[in-house]
Amino acid sequence: MASWEIGRLWQTLTYFEIVPLVNCWQRLFKQGQSKSKRSSTNMVILVAGATGGVGKRVTKKLLERGDRVRALVRDAARARDILGEGVELFEADITIPETLKPEMMRGVGAVICCTGTKVQPVEGDTPTREKYYQGVKFYLPEVVDTPELVEYEGIKNLVRVASQHIPAATDRMIFDFTNPNASLKEIWGAVDDVVMGGVSQSNIRLAGDRAIFSGNVSTENNGGFASVRTRNFENPLDLSDYEGIELRVIGDGKRYKFIARCEGKWDGVGYSYSFDTIYDYPTTIRIPFKDLIPVFRAKTVEEAAELDSGKVYSMQLMLSKFEYDGELNPKFEAGSFRLEVEYIKAYGGKTKPQFVQVSSAGVTRPNRPGINLEEEPPAVRMNEQLGGILTWKLRGEEAIKSSGLTYTIVRPCALTEQLGNKALYAEQGDNLRGQVSREAIAQLCIEAIALPEAVNKTFEVKEEQQGNTNWKELFSSLKKDN
Ligand SMILES: NC(=O)c1ccc[n+]([C@@H]2O[C@H](COP(=O)([O-])OP(=O)(O)OC[C@H]3O[C@@H](n4cnc5c(N)ncnc54)[C@H](OP(=O)(O)O)[C@@H]3O)[C@@H](O)[C@H]2O)c1
Repeated sequence: MASWEIGRLWQTLTYFEIVPLVNCWQRLFKQGQSKSKRSSTNMVILVAGATGGVGKRVTKKLLERGDRVRALVRDAARARDILGEGVELFEADITIPETLKPEMMRGVGAVICCTGTKVQPVEGDTPTREKYYQGVKFYLPEVVDTPELVEYEGIKNLVRVASQHIPAATDRMIFDFTNPNASLKEIWGAVDDVVMGGVSQSNIRLAGDRAIFSGNVSTENNGGFASVRTRNFENPLDLSDYEGIELRVIGDGKRYKFIARCEGKWDGVGYSYSFDTIYDYPTTIRIPFKDLIPVFRAKTVEEAAELDSGKVYSMQLMLSKFEYDGELNPKFEAGSFRLEVEYIKAYGGKTKPQFVQVSSAGVTRPNRPGINLEEEPPAVRMNEQLGGILTWKLRGEEAIKSSGLTYTIVRPCALTEQLGNKALYAEQGDNLRGQVSREAIAQLCIEAIALPEAVNKTFEVKEEQQGNTNWKELFSSLKKDN
């Protein structure tokens, strides 16, 4: 009988926040609920123009939700002051292609672009600017930068680099170990047969572009499994739009299991799928949700429903001597093992927007026959004096539409600094006039990246009492672009 280490059991129990109320395994394992704050997804969202009025709100809201945000900013020191510590900064200027390096796109699943030509009152940076910015009073505006560069060339540059690097719009990255989140150890921990009295030992660590699950599996003391498992995600993943899980691995020829759970209990039903690896050869494993087998400690649970992919609480990778119901794993060998994992993602989802652009209402109105300039907002009336700002914004929109990326183009009416607690009204055809808060536009952009209903739609938006407060309905009511 090999010597069993209570210290390692204790480590496992404390890591997964299972509080030992009494010295009874059964009871113990039912208590385990992990609640600590940690991000549940690894996709990075790139926010361009993150220091601006809309951009800083987008950034703040995403961070509050626990998303990973990379802010494309022109001046990192200034951006740090505005955005605080929680955000990753990438210094670049969209008008200078050399600054838009591929590293900027590492792990990025979607871009929210809130850049815009700096416009200010001709009086300059006096208290006037505040009033101007808040739409309180009209002051004669002037552009500081060149709209052609910022609104068109810049967007073209950003879209080019984004379309080269953003993954398929039908996938959702969950763990991208090629672009690891520093908090791997915060999320993944070992669960070996030590919990049953065994002596197998494993861990997961980052090396190069991969996470390496390795260790030694032993059948001593009636043991025979080693595994690594995530703590419960703070917000269970809603993968109901997807067909299944895809793993990219390099294995050692052994058969492993992937297990997902749709409840927060430590020792509840797991949904398991066995997959074979090829020695030292990269393999892509696709696990349709419908093929996951409900198991309780390697015994199938006939009466259990299918995995509820709408609330995935945790994931686990395991090497076990057992298959299911006492069957043995035909590829099992005691001893050392190694499974390298490049990523874990959901596949087969509905297409979602990869690029969300904050454009402007009025972009098609300059020189449009029949337009009564008296009724139009200043940007339309003064398009020429403002360097053709709206004309170049429209050209920027066209660059996005022809990029091959899936997109949402939001054209806000006059932006305000109000609270953003009003309903929104959206329309197509570019005839809308009114106001909308930067707060509401920021929220709209964030909602768009998660909604298939927002794909390839361009629309104007303002606040209105009778507007819509349901995002899905709001996007569904709009037509796709031709
Ligand atoms: N004001 C309105 O009533 C109104 C109405 C409809 C639409 N819009 C449009 O809505 C968008 C967002 O408005 P906002 O009020 O949030 O704008 P904003 O406060 O002026 O922010 C613009 C952002 O773009 C960044 N930027 C400018 N040029 C850049 C470049 N070359 N490379 C990288 N970043 C650059 C700025 O960075 P720095 O901090 O480094 O300058 C800033 O973060 C703009 O496109 C605006 O034109 C405005």
